Amino acid sequence: MSTTTASNPIIRNNTSVITSKTTHKLRIALFGFGVVGTGVWKILVEKRKEFRKAYGIDLEIGGICVRDLVKERVVAVDPAIITDNIDALLADDSIDIVLELIGGRFEAQTLIERALASRKHVITANKLVLAHELPRLRAIADRSGVNLFYSASVCGSVPVLRSLDELRAGDRISKISGIVNGSTNFILTSMAEQGISYEDALPEARRLGFLEADPSLDVSGADAAQKLSVLIYHAFGQHIPPHAISTTGIEAITAGDFTRAKATGHTIKLLATASLEANGKVHAQVRPELVPISHLFANTRDEFNALEIQTANAGPQVLYGKGAGSLPTASAVVSDLIEVLKGE
Ligand SMILES: NC(=O)c1ccc[n+]([C@@H]2O[C@H](COP(=O)([O-])OP(=O)(O)OC[C@H]3O[C@@H](n4cnc5c(N)ncnc54)[C@H](OP(=O)(O)O)[C@@H]3O)[C@@H](O)[C@H]2O)c1
Repeated sequence: MSTTTASNPIIRNNTSVITSKTTHKLRIALFGFGVVGTGVWKILVEKRKEFRKAYGIDLEIGGICVRDLVKERVVAVDPAIITDNIDALLADDSIDIVLELIGGRFEAQTLIERALASRKHVITANKLVLAHELPRLRAIADRSGVNLFYSASVCGSVPVLRSLDELRAGDRISKISGIVNGSTNFILTSMAEQGISYEDALPEARRLGFLEADPSLDVSGADAAQKLSVLIYHAFGQHIPPHAISTTGIEAITAGDFTRAKATGHTIKLLATASLEANGKVHAQVRPELVPISHLFANTRDEFNALEIQTANAGPQVLYGKGAGSLPTASAVVSDLIEVLKGE
């Protein structure tokens, strides 16, 4: 971390400078400048002065790594800080915080491991890597004395992981259940409300940018299983990798299924559920379920997410909000960044 003197020293009267307030500079490397990375950039540009004032820290984006250097970007950025060389940016000793927003599995995993091992704080939105490697990555972060934060990996802007941490600290969580995949929820909402088939609902979800590059990750329930794995770690302190979670997607649901559900006062939602059994084991599953039309989950529409947490003492609590999209997800990344600033 570098230290500079703020340009506005604290002045008590017109003539004498009583003390000078120091401002630390923290340099960020942004790996990935797509949907989420661009959102983070926009928020940081807007909030930089505010952060300097609140935390005495000047955040500077020291580099941005992308795959395609000639791709047109939706925001104007100094070309001098853009690179396609992951290794060079990672080797830059002046970088304090790495934001991993490239997605995918092994390249991102290596990036996170190397950044942590070289004592850089890491913030990621990558549920795929976390679902497989969370305990090991946390151990590397602990050994290196740096933070690994990942609020954006589950339910976008909704602070589900922090809430689970807080509830678990003072209570006993017995069950979590919810809608954690915005894309499939958008498709199921369209099918329920417009009476259309899965095949007709899919292109609209794609057109609006709600589907992953590979839509099978969403519709097969795999994305929800990855998020459930991360949620389980925070709710129950156990690591269950996504392939150990019983998972059924939404591909086989028909318009007729919705007609029959409606006739009995229900709708259909893709629910991710995990409960703590009496023997201490966690039972976890992702599958489409019938939900009474009066339930909050039935009214969780489109890309919104909702998570119900059952605890021994506090009873049920529900968190609800936008689970995906550029700014909602970037907002969660920035909230992690603030946690890092608070610790500096
Ligand atoms: N989108 C959401 O709503 C959302 C919500 C929650 C979590 N997430 C997670 O956030 C992460 C990023 O998602 P996204 O939607 O922002 O993805 P995206 O729009 O596809 O952006 C990915 C970015 O990473 C860059 N990139 C990919 N591979 C790279 C490599 N090998 N080297 C350098 N740069 C590379 C791409 O470069 P180019 O621009 O040159 O192609 C692009 O800028 C993922 O882990 C995703 O699961 C996304």
